[in-house]
Amino acid sequence: MIVGVDYYPEHWEEERWPVDADLMAEAGITVVRMAEFAWSRLEPAEGRFEFAWLDRALDVLASRGIQAVLGTPTAAPPAWLVEKHRDILPVDELRQPREFGARLHRCLANPTFRRYSRAITAAMAAHYASHPTVIGWQTDNELTANRCYCDHCAQAFRAWLEQRYGSLDALNAAWGTVFWSQDYSAWSQVPLPWRTACGAMAHNPSLLLDYDRFASDTAVAFQREQIELLREHCPNHFVTHNYMGLHDSVDYYALAADLDFVSWDNYPTASAALPHDVMRGILRKNFWVMEQRCGHTGWNQMSPAPRPGQLRVWAWQAVAHGADAVVFFRWRSCRSGTEQFWQGILNHDGQPGRRYREIAALAEELKALAPELDGTTPRNPVAILYAYDQIWALQIQPNAPGLSYRRFVEKYHNGFTRNGIGVDVVATDADLAGYRLVVCPPLTLLDEALAARIERYVADGGNVLLSARTGVKDERNIARAEPLPGPLARVAGAVVDEYDALGEGTNAIELVTGARFKASTWCDILREDGAEVVARYVGDYYAGRTAITRHALGKGKAWYVGTLAEPRFYLHFLRAIADELGIPRVTGLPSGIEIAARHGNRGSVLVVTNLTAAPHEVELPMPCWDPVAEAMVTEPIALDPYGVRVLRTKG
Ligand code: GLA
Ligand code: ZN
Repeated sequence: MIVGVDYYPEHWEEERWPVDADLMAEAGITVVRMAEFAWSRLEPAEGRFEFAWLDRALDVLASRGIQAVLGTPTAAPPAWLVEKHRDILPVDELRQPREFGARLHRCLANPTFRRYSRAITAAMAAHYASHPTVIGWQTDNELTANRCYCDHCAQAFRAWLEQRYGSLDALNAAWGTVFWSQDYSAWSQVPLPWRTACGAMAHNPSLLLDYDRFASDTAVAFQREQIELLREHCPNHFVTHNYMGLHDSVDYYALAADLDFVSWDNYPTASAALPHDVMRGILRKNFWVMEQRCGHTGWNQMSPAPRPGQLRVWAWQAVAHGADAVVFFRWRSCRSGTEQFWQGILNHDGQPGRRYREIAALAEELKALAPELDGTTPRNPVAILYAYDQIWALQIQPNAPGLSYRRFVEKYHNGFTRNGIGVDVVATDADLAGYRLVVCPPLTLLDEALAARIERYVADGGNVLLSARTGVKDERNIARAEPLPGPLARVAGAVVDEYDALGEGTNAIELVTGARFKASTWCDILREDGAEVVARYVGDYYAGRTAITRHALGKGKAWYVGTLAEPRFYLHFLRAIADELGIPRVTGLPSGIEIAARHGNRGSVLVVTNLTAAPHEVELPMPCWDPVAEAMVTEPIALDPYGVRVLRTKG
């Protein structure tokens, strides 16, 4: 278990560094991340690399036993580089450059920028390859898709399409360009999604989806170039990247293909259980939090202060979901620049205060419990499929106001969390065999191969929950010419007869067992074809028609849920399914109390977190051992506001 901090020695006088390092060491901080925006100090003029200051900072930290992760500084290209090569600036959909002055002012497809990125990366990697204090690297910072509309990107997009489709004829056929006279007779005619006479989103949906894929691939290719250099020079260092949780412009699976592990930047306001699970699911292994909120957030105005105990409970929630390191952002609030008000552990005055003491106490607690936690990882009975091209397809065409892939994921994830059921969030090509239940949010883009995998999983004894808007398109974003849910109709044992894009409107559903719930956003009106009815609509012209079905297929079962419902529905419905499938759950968990487990060879660790400002009592699902009190716990446990209990179980 690592407690770390993001540190910017270049923001402070050198005389202060030893004071900082002493305070860090006293607080139990053992790792710092540095350098990821320091390009203008690491290469103050083209080809002039100055590492001496960073060497001295590393020495100061090393003398206190603190190790370092270095970032490649490419998210903040220096002014000299932009002045010399203005064409590295990213361009917006109106074909205007985005100017120097903040950060991210670079097009990742620009060959000149790529050359400079390789040069600084190689120079740093060569210099720090055998530095005893450096343990690993973070590539760039919070990479997003390269949604740039410059001429380089236009050329690169056409080359990417040619690679994918082979010929213009194939492209025209794949995209259905016959619509509105869009047939292309030369590659040079193929546009980026520049703003059209009808807006930016009026483009052909197939073009828009391929542009999303291309913009994601560009970021992945950019990062890969840095990783190759880091691997070549620094075979003993790890390479990671700081992700952004539920951010979804880059295919996070592709971005992780060359990494040792995923890290992410966690600035919680509400529960971060879902983003933690998404981050763990990328490589299906434990992760780091590379930036964890430690105070006010905000650039020009500040969010409310974290309450006493909140820093601790957020850190424990991260650990509960598989974090092996919690690195706080940042050490000390900066006196200059855009993020003056983004609070560090220390305020501008540099004095240790309440938040410093809370983090020091957390570090001590994590150190004491490390023997319980080391080598453990979450392992859950339920999976939710999470796929970026599905997310993008529904962003391009939400189908109805308020409909998004994320909303389905959040509703289900929250329903499981409220029932104390742990969830893995995994790719559509993940091995599903170990899961009792797999939730499929709308698989809008559905091909036969994915449908066949799901069918086999069910036939072999797996259970799936299918969603509205499944099987609408193929992977080219062309509408499929068959009744919905297309190639999954056999698994569902039902077809969609009609649908109602409800948007802001409301209806209700009634389970055959009697309970009623509000329905919203979308209503599939189902016709059973082998399945049994689980719920019917209550209102409108389709009152009495089927909303939810259950179908036994082979050794497994498939539910089809044709609508979105209020949160209470998921609590109720998933509880019933869990009981039917024998998935253990917790009864009577108050809202805001979460139970998550990590498992290892020596047993399991249960982490109970109270994310609320009120005290709560929680009935444990089984008798547990409290390693701090060294006693068995059989009674309900009392949790203080933002309280945490870490317990050992056999299971
Ligand atoms: C992100 C970045 C950091 C910093 C914080 C606060 O997470 O990675 O560099 O900018 O936000 O804004
Ligand atoms: Zn570009």
